[in-house]
Amino acid sequence: MAAPRGEFTSRFGFLMAASGSAVGLGNIWGFPTNTASNGGAAFLIAYLVLTFALAYPALMAELIIGRHARSNAVAALKAIAPGRPSRLLAVFIGLMGILTVSFILSFYAIVSGWMIAFFFDPIARLLGMEGLAQWLVQDTAMRNSIFVIVFMLLTIFIISAGVKDGIEKWSSRLMPSLILILLLLILYVFTLPGAMDGLRAYLIPDFSRITDPQLLVDAMGQAFFSLSLGVGTMLVYGSYISKDENLPVVGSLVALLDVGIAVLAGLLILPAMYVALANGVEIFDASGGLIAGPGLIVSVLPALFNNMGAVGILVAAAFFVLMTIASLTSSISMLEVPVAYSVENHGAGRRTAALAIGSIITLISLLIVFNFDPLFDLVVNFTTERSQPLLSLFICIFVAWIWRRNDILEEIKQGCPQAEAGLFWKIWPFYVKFICPVAILVVYFQ
Ligand code: TRP
Repeated sequence: MAAPRGEFTSRFGFLMAASGSAVGLGNIWGFPTNTASNGGAAFLIAYLVLTFALAYPALMAELIIGRHARSNAVAALKAIAPGRPSRLLAVFIGLMGILTVSFILSFYAIVSGWMIAFFFDPIARLLGMEGLAQWLVQDTAMRNSIFVIVFMLLTIFIISAGVKDGIEKWSSRLMPSLILILLLLILYVFTLPGAMDGLRAYLIPDFSRITDPQLLVDAMGQAFFSLSLGVGTMLVYGSYISKDENLPVVGSLVALLDVGIAVLAGLLILPAMYVALANGVEIFDASGGLIAGPGLIVSVLPALFNNMGAVGILVAAAFFVLMTIASLTSSISMLEVPVAYSVENHGAGRRTAALAIGSIITLISLLIVFNFDPLFDLVVNFTTERSQPLLSLFICIFVAWIWRRNDILEEIKQGCPQAEAGLFWKIWPFYVKFICPVAILVVYFQ
């Protein structure tokens, strides 16, 4: 029989876990470069508006269903479905979420593995092991396979330990460290020549871009990916929140932490790129835009660190620890989705489930590593651009059109007895019912 369900022991624990899920490569890598290539602060403003107007309501939908049903995505959606057709739909959406998040993890782990390799590079150089350092930064299938496995073992290790002793414990340690390292790096980079040009590129808005459909599509994709929506991650984390907790409040704190750290990351990455430019590193690609893809993190920034001499070793190590922490607190939230399902719906043991599912995902990652060009972009685009927004749409529809309104209110009232008279209840139901589905569809068909 499955073990009793875990629960976060405090508001702090939940906030660290959920913001740990939300804050990841998407914030530190995706957000700053998206901003730079979409008209600076114009993108920032669109992103902030879309996060609070669209992504936050969708986040709340997941947290509320999760805490109400106190179970994984499949069982939770089923529990709120009144009839047989809607139950079938529930199972389908839940399973698609599990599949999607597993594939997201399979590519996320590859990129996270690079971060670990790049963390060891300055250490190897410090120890005089030039050959090893060379190997660590070279994009080979061998290196990528080894570090995918290392990263997945860390993820499996934490998830095996459960909600309180794994997810909560590690998120509560890692997230404060992440914020501290991020702040220290920003302060340091600000002292370097060129940093202020980066700040200008980041913060001066080019308002002529704000109605650009591409900007809006990118901003919305960024908001949904960053809040880990659509695939049951936040639903499962929501299912571990205590019934005494005020959901609208904790949900908005998670969204605030997520955008706050993204904005901070922009204060690091863009100034750092312009510092690199001042050091003679190429930061623009052939079409004149800022280098944004993998090149940014695995070539522009390392070139900068190399130019910094001895401090560069420390800064490089700190930066890649930051990236690894951000990845790990996100990857555990991804693996938890299929693991919670196997434990609760199929009576698997947590350790066995974490190891078995983690191994399958690692095998998929290895398949991608060895067929990188045809597979990597395909998996990224399919999961994040196709599957994730559609699943989010269905979850909003489920809450707003299928679930009984009174049950929703009852759920929110636990931990927030005045909810019915509050602002949240005046606005949110309308949002998930009409605005979110329409907006997701519009952007989807762009
Ligand atoms: N939000 C994380 C980031 O910004 C990634 C992430 C974690 C995620 N869990 C997810 C993305 C579930 C999509 C779905 O990097």
